[in-house]
Amino acid sequence: MITIGKLAPGDRAAWETLFRAYIAFYKRMLTQEMYDRAWRLFQDDRHMHALGAKIDGRLVGITHFFIHPSTSSADVCYLQDLFTAEGIRGQGVARQLIAAVCDWAKARECARVYWMTHESNATARRLYDKVGENRGFIRYQIEL
Ligand SMILES: CC(C)(COP(=O)(O)OP(=O)(O)OC[C@H]1O[C@@H](n2cnc3c(N)ncnc32)[C@H](O)[C@@H]1OP(=O)(O)O)[C@@H](O)C(=O)NCCC(=O)NCCS
Repeated sequence: MITIGKLAPGDRAAWETLFRAYIAFYKRMLTQEMYDRAWRLFQDDRHMHALGAKIDGRLVGITHFFIHPSTSSADVCYLQDLFTAEGIRGQGVARQLIAAVCDWAKARECARVYWMTHESNATARRLYDKVGENRGFIRYQIEL
């Protein structure tokens, strides 16, 4: 059975393993300081938030998200990170994590939950095409 809930102090090591795998998936590197900072902010739970998915008590999936204002609607919720452990994929864990973020954001009267993915991420897009709507926007950025 899959259970979704907030991350507790005891989840720290398992969370970092999953977050590190997510960062590696996108071929990025983070300093230990950034992992420590993220964990602090999730435990603080004021500006950034996290949920974890467990199967038989083992943390197998994580998602990170936050609310921001919108110029043209009520606040919106940005789902920044989503990762599930390789061995349990295809069992609906990510789907449940997204649904839990939607419940969380709805309870806080957000207008929508949205997220991005790389266009080549076919596996993720199979799920996203089922649970969300691709409005066709593309992302630009300038590194500062
Ligand atoms: C993308 C990712 C989060 C999906 O996690 P997951 O727990 O396997 O997803 P789910 O089991 O909830 O997927 C549900 C749906 O997606 C599809 N799907 C997901 N993974 C699939 C796979 N490997 N093969 C076939 N279909 C798959 C299924 O059709 C499934 O639909 P169904 O529920 O109607 O059967 C996971 O593969 C992952 O962590 N990938 C690496 C990191 C990543 O890409 N994160 C997202 C970045 S934006």
